[in-house]
Amino acid sequence: MLFVAMGTFYKKPFVKVAAFRRIVSLVSVTLIGALLLILVLKTNSVSNVVAPPLNEVYDYGNRKYGVDFFTDSFKLPKQNEMSIQLEERNRLPPRNVDLYPNLAKDHIVIVLYVHNRPQYLQVVVKSLSHVVGINETLLIVSHDGYFEEMNKIVDGIKFCQVKQIFAPYSPHVFAGGFPGVSLNDCKDKDNATAKHCLGTPDQYGNHRSPKIVSLKHHWWWMMNTVWDGLEETWGHSGHILFIEEDHFIFPNAYRNLQVLTALKPLKCPNCYAANLAPCDVNSKGEGGDTLVAERMGNVGYSFNRTVWRKIHRKAREFCFFDDYNWDITMWATVFPSFGAPVYTLRGPRTSAVHFGKCGLHQGQGNKGACIDNGVFNIGLEDTDKVTNIKSEWSLRIIKHQQGYKAGFRGWGGWGDERDCLLCLQFAHMYHSTNTAGSRRVELSTS
Ligand SMILES: *[C@@H]1O[C@H](CO)[C@@H](O)[C@H](O)[C@H]1NC(C)=O
Ligand SMILES: *[C@@H]1O[C@H](CO)[C@@H](O)[C@H](O)[C@H]1NC(C)=O
Ligand SMILES: *[C@@H]1O[C@H](CO)[C@@H](O)[C@H](O)[C@H]1NC(C)=O
Repeated sequence: MLFVAMGTFYKKPFVKVAAFRRIVSLVSVTLIGALLLILVLKTNSVSNVVAPPLNEVYDYGNRKYGVDFFTDSFKLPKQNEMSIQLEERNRLPPRNVDLYPNLAKDHIVIVLYVHNRPQYLQVVVKSLSHVVGINETLLIVSHDGYFEEMNKIVDGIKFCQVKQIFAPYSPHVFAGGFPGVSLNDCKDKDNATAKHCLGTPDQYGNHRSPKIVSLKHHWWWMMNTVWDGLEETWGHSGHILFIEEDHFIFPNAYRNLQVLTALKPLKCPNCYAANLAPCDVNSKGEGGDTLVAERMGNVGYSFNRTVWRKIHRKAREFCFFDDYNWDITMWATVFPSFGAPVYTLRGPRTSAVHFGKCGLHQGQGNKGACIDNGVFNIGLEDTDKVTNIKSEWSLRIIKHQQGYKAGFRGWGGWGDERDCLLCLQFAHMYHSTNTAGSRRVELSTS
């Protein structure tokens, strides 16, 4: 038929023109239809899985710092081979899907963020293996730097689905330049003008230390990635629980957290989060038969996507606050900017404890130095093995708690403009139309 018709075109020009017009209109209609279809599909996928466009969630008119988000100067650092490989690894699917093919419908994703303390990680992983219900959920382990010994421990996890992610822009991954150290960088209290070195000092006159800034970078990269950058969590509408490599998790932690997140809208509608542990890291809880609302702590905290969007909107506050501690940054700038006290809901008895005796990034290489005799002994009681929070309990609110508040100017360590911009870039990377952003869209429509 087609062959005949084409022959006709050649013999009868007027038919050709008419047919051509028909074809053109047919093609146009088809094209428009196809475009509409694509648009509809895209709109759907956007609303379901892709993070909102940047201008909806993020006030990026940051003239004060001379940031122009649409020029080359605002770009992620050039990646080295290691960084590219880590980013590729981040796209691997979770392991143990054969053992645990389905996640429970109401699961709470657990994110464990770690650096390089294998003897600690071993303790955490062992504790997680006894957590009741962990086999219903996905565990994401977020690594700051690439360390074989840490990998080996994560490889050994067989008690739930596990996904590893690695911060591809960690200072630990860059040997010869930013975000690592470059030869030309200022050190300590150098005078950049006099020494002709690179860097802007913090409020106390000190230049950046890559090992120290890596903490806040990792936390912020991880937050942006687990909420907005992973296929595995795009559709997740519930809570995500965050724990660290020196947190011991009790067997009842997961079931208790399920109770808390269910009770939160009923008992404490003003609570932003649910915590496994009291805000005071040395407290195991006051006991008694009450729920507790207090300021949000940094051990075993969990919140949902609505709260994440609120935090993400404060990216500038987070990234330009001169304190290298992510938690103090949150307490002193981000939470106060919400306008109302940021409470979390917890039980009267802790379900997680912090066991690190030395600060992050110390203690490795000196086996067991941070844990007594290389073992961690926590006296678990029977009540720590079963759900011990009751829905009929009333709520006790702890107001006027001590701690960092709006007005505190920070401990420093976070003064280098390059760190502030990299941090801002992390907030930006899954929301723009640059490569990282378009990769998301590709993944979501395929
Ligand atoms: C999870 O573990 C419990 C035992 O703690 C077991 O009864 C249950 O069948 C397991 N569920 C899955 C999905 O593996
Ligand atoms: C840094 O060095 C420049 C040039 O030598 C000098 O003018 C300036 O006062 C110095 N700044 C400080 C804070 O010492
Ligand atoms: C998430 O938590 C906040 C604070 O508790 C709550 O206001 C909001 O309704 C929750 N969002 C969803 C989708 O459940």
